[in-house]
Amino acid sequence: MHKHPTEAPQKAPPPPPSPAAHDTKKSIPSQGARYVTLLYPLIFFFLFITILVSSLNYETVPWNFFPFPSAKSSNPRVAICLVGGARRFELTGPSILEHVLNVFPEADLFVHSNLDENSFKLGLLRLAPRVTEMRIRRPAMLPETRQQKRVLTKSFSPNGIQGLLQYFDLVEGCLDMIREQETQGRFKYDWIVRTRVDGYWTGPLDLEAFKPGSYVVPEGCRFGGLNDRLGIGDRNTSEVALSRLSLLAQLDEAGFRDLDSETAFRAQLIVNNIPPVELRFPFCILSDRQYDYPPVRFGVPVTSMGSPGPLSGAKCRPCTVVCKDECMEQIGPRVNEMWGWTEWRNGSMELCNGSQPWEEGWEKIFDNVAGKVAAIVRRRVKNMKFDECVKEMDCLRKKAERWNGPDSAEICNLALLNTPSRTRKLPV
Ligand SMILES: *[C@@H]1O[C@H](CO)[C@@H](O)[C@H](O)[C@H]1NC(C)=O
Ligand SMILES: *[C@@H]1O[C@H](CO)[C@@H](O)[C@H](O)[C@H]1NC(C)=O
Ligand SMILES: *[C@@H]1O[C@H](CO)[C@@H](O)[C@H](O)[C@H]1NC(C)=O
Repeated sequence: MHKHPTEAPQKAPPPPPSPAAHDTKKSIPSQGARYVTLLYPLIFFFLFITILVSSLNYETVPWNFFPFPSAKSSNPRVAICLVGGARRFELTGPSILEHVLNVFPEADLFVHSNLDENSFKLGLLRLAPRVTEMRIRRPAMLPETRQQKRVLTKSFSPNGIQGLLQYFDLVEGCLDMIREQETQGRFKYDWIVRTRVDGYWTGPLDLEAFKPGSYVVPEGCRFGGLNDRLGIGDRNTSEVALSRLSLLAQLDEAGFRDLDSETAFRAQLIVNNIPPVELRFPFCILSDRQYDYPPVRFGVPVTSMGSPGPLSGAKCRPCTVVCKDECMEQIGPRVNEMWGWTEWRNGSMELCNGSQPWEEGWEKIFDNVAGKVAAIVRRRVKNMKFDECVKEMDCLRKKAERWNGPDSAEICNLALLNTPSRTRKLPV
């Protein structure tokens, strides 16, 4: 078949997805844009000839006569992968819906989470524009091989190597679901967005984050490697970035030892020649973990979820702020750049004293920061009854193209009837 000479070659990077509701000016040049660039000389030449031949006044050339190609290229396919435990999903869920899922309403959503007493909170996803697969798996210990023990370190992970493997398995499971969808539908996704169930978003996921050939991650919280709390890449770079378990063999061969999550992540991109790009993103990780205050050089700052931001994936919680402005100028520079640091200048970060569990009255602080809708969801989930829970889960099951998990009653039982669970709690 004859191809138009200016048609983009097959290897061209996919165009960025079209967002639902925000600025498209920031989008990177798409195939369409390049098409336009190539046509400009032709158009101007045509224009020049037209002016010469017909001696028309420049102003009177009918501009819309020229066949400008539409800058819109065919819709790229986006997969959004949401992984992790639903522990505080009643708080993070509304923000993920608003700032990630509803921004890309055409995207396919894949969820991978362990079954526990918080799984029922995932019922909130019935409000997502599209749910492709829900995988809520029964927790099980993963085997730890000699190779994995060699490459990974127990330090830094609260549950040692098992905790790392569990996390890697959740992430890589997303890639399995995506492949299955691709095989069934005979297509490939152009982009994969990988994000976490415990992310609290304060602004939309930016189109600037879609960079062909690179893997984009949040700036800061590197812990000597790369921040792995969010990642965006094209199909090829995501294949590498999400293969957290299976690439450990490659890292072993390359001689890497004693890696934690962040250093392993960096190593797997480097070994595969994928340039990471760090950008600041408007989300934080809502966490119950406690860290010393004030943070020291290799400490972890616990930020207020109400900080102006962007917090770029720092740990956060609802709290009474104990440090901002001048206080931040004292504490900020002390935290090591390659470790727990996140950009704090210009008032973007405010700190909590995170050395204790969440403070009394955090609910009110949360409601003030997150707004009315989130406050309603929080109270609804807190007071949810069994029947209501089952109804919500059934609704989500109906919405999901594939349901890979227990039935609604079992999920709701775990949380709301306090029956002995058939599952063991596992670290993740
Ligand atoms: C992705 O990888 C495949 C196979 O390695 C290659 O043929 C293709 O050109 C790559 N696509 C992009 C956009 O880099
Ligand atoms: C702080 O704000 C100034 C002025 O808007 C800007 O030039 C600078 O880049 C900002 N610094 C950081 C670290 O964001
Ligand atoms: C942080 O909180 C703990 C526990 O409430 C308290 O003992 C400690 O003094 C606080 N630290 C600072 C620097 O305020």
